[in-house]
Amino acid sequence: MSHRIAVLPGDGIGREVTPEAVRVLRAVGKGSGTTFDFEEGLVGGGAIDATGAPLPPATLALCLKADAILFGAVGGPKWDDLPQEQRPERGLLGLRKQLDLYANLRPAKCFPFLVDASPLKREVVDGTDLVVIRELTGGLYYGEPRGVERAADGSARAVNTMVYSTAEIERVARVAFDVARKRRKRLASVDKANVLVVSQLWRETVTRVGKEFPDVTLEHVLVDNCAMALVQRPTHFDTLVTENTFGDILSDEAAILAGSMGMLPSASIGSLAGAGGSLAGAGGGRVGLYEPVHGTAPDIAGKGIANPIASVLSAAMLLRYSVNMSADADRIERAVERVLAAGHRTGDIARSGEKALGTRQMGDLIVREVEAQY
Ligand code: IPM
Ligand code: MG
Repeated sequence: MSHRIAVLPGDGIGREVTPEAVRVLRAVGKGSGTTFDFEEGLVGGGAIDATGAPLPPATLALCLKADAILFGAVGGPKWDDLPQEQRPERGLLGLRKQLDLYANLRPAKCFPFLVDASPLKREVVDGTDLVVIRELTGGLYYGEPRGVERAADGSARAVNTMVYSTAEIERVARVAFDVARKRRKRLASVDKANVLVVSQLWRETVTRVGKEFPDVTLEHVLVDNCAMALVQRPTHFDTLVTENTFGDILSDEAAILAGSMGMLPSASIGSLAGAGGSLAGAGGGRVGLYEPVHGTAPDIAGKGIANPIASVLSAAMLLRYSVNMSADADRIERAVERVLAAGHRTGDIARSGEKALGTRQMGDLIVREVEAQY
């Protein structure tokens, strides 16, 4: 078998962690007899510098013909003063829209070895294992009308629109129920139905889709309450589904539960993925995008000390959801667990006094643990 993987490291530590995930995939390829064809593309700030655009046409074309995309991170202080429409982030937002990557899966699991790395108390985070499913191509991020009107007197009025259709809600709800069904069969749908009409439609639609999944217990949680519950009793949650902006915020919050953002992978799945848009898990889909939840981390970029685990675990998700190699995804996850269990740490997850490894060293250890399983 052969799979085409578009590799878009982007900016900052994206350039440092992504190569480690590629090395891990190469080890999987060798062990399993699979050929991965990696082709690198420019995106974000680096693409702006080289071509003037955050998502050059060549990169989009590369992604469209790939089986999956391994993404790093985009952005950085250098491009902070550019107008909205020209910022590095537009590269990522453009890809999500162009590839219709409407379901974003962000697991947050508290690794037992890292309970003490979380700023929250051990008894609160211990046992946390949840996944946030964030709608990724609608809501405030893309809704029309949008824009700023400036008046002659210097005053201005700016508009973003939160808009969702039933079809958009239904498809992400189906993914969420499907994921919940393979987990502990509990789904929390997060909205602001006490205030927003969009949320009322959200709630109504999710409830209706839920009838197709009678084995999954559905609850509705208001977003403000959910933000509180996530840090108060995170073990209550299994699978959460919510609209784009709420999901952006809650998934960052959930990241804290895992001890470090440097541990968290994500998958963005499109309508082309899997059978009938459902997350087959065993299905083998088309063009999903896999990226660490962390950003470019300008404060540590270029130092070779970033934690590559989020990127490596994103590669595992890629194997599971885009190319139907679940057993190999398990091998990667096991390798990461073994390296951590043996006490190896990067700076973000090391306790004071503990030795911190560099990006490359951590990558070496994981590659070795992957190789050992074939
Ligand atoms: C994320 C990020 C992006 C978002 C930015 C970089 C555009 O915060 O993936 O959560 O807001 O979606
Ligand atoms: Mg975010």
